[in-house]
Amino acid sequence: MLYLIFYAFVLASVIDIEYNRLLQWAEHLGKAVKQVPKFGLVAGTGLGSFMDQQLEVDAEIKYEDIPGFPLATAESHSGRFVFGRWRGVPVLVMKGRFHCYEGYNLEQVTLPVRLMKLLGIDKLIVTNAAGGLNPNFQLGDLMIITDHIDLLPGNPLIGRNETRFGPRFPDMSQPYNILWYNLAFETAQQLKIPVRKGVYVAVSGPNLETRAEYRFLRIIGADAVGMSTVPEVIVARHMNMKVLAVSVITDICDLDSLEVLTLEQVIATADKAGSKLAMLLGSLLTELN
Ligand code: HPA
Repeated sequence: MLYLIFYAFVLASVIDIEYNRLLQWAEHLGKAVKQVPKFGLVAGTGLGSFMDQQLEVDAEIKYEDIPGFPLATAESHSGRFVFGRWRGVPVLVMKGRFHCYEGYNLEQVTLPVRLMKLLGIDKLIVTNAAGGLNPNFQLGDLMIITDHIDLLPGNPLIGRNETRFGPRFPDMSQPYNILWYNLAFETAQQLKIPVRKGVYVAVSGPNLETRAEYRFLRIIGADAVGMSTVPEVIVARHMNMKVLAVSVITDICDLDSLEVLTLEQVIATADKAGSKLAMLLGSLLTELN
């Protein structure tokens, strides 16, 4: 019995340290800025550079300069938080996200979103590079995500629920804000940017999918496939943040003539489409602000 009480005490303090640790990191980050950012932005593969051109940077904090913070490793990510203003709107950009395939657990993958919330941000915009499963999609299209399917191993909310963040069983009937995604779609059309709406399916990677898997993902209702976004969105919704997510279709998962895909191709297409994405997000930010 005594042993059990001791165990419960240790467990409770471990969890408390976790929350306090997040608070410490948030405090560390918060020192860098005078103004609470209005939006958190997660920049996906190859999509960070468009922000370099448009963002008026106030402060940059590398992940490695935050004591104890997990580091980004994927080649295409530079691993830092950037505080700045985009078209005058204060934002916090996470450059270099964490993926399951790098060996991070889902709690680590979603840490930056937790930090954003602790900093007082309650609006999140997520971008990613994705493979197009819908046969109508074309290379470089933007896809506004309307819903998702989670095929990742595990879930970032497994474990004792931290009620200071949100409920045990968060609702997922509308993870992506319907007003926001409709507005994003209409804005893209007005800007004459090729745009789609669709369902994103998250897989762990790092290998790309087989033809049989692409066929399966289509059958279960996905329009695009990628290796990110969903954990961040789950955690954001757990904390009742409003979410908009946009995929850049960097390759076409064509079952009849599937070609070998390299990371370089994905990044090159994402870079090319980056300016369209920047145009869209830039005008949305001013509208949603
Ligand atoms: N699968 C296929 N194509 C992709 C992916 C993926 O996970 N991400 C970007 N292009």
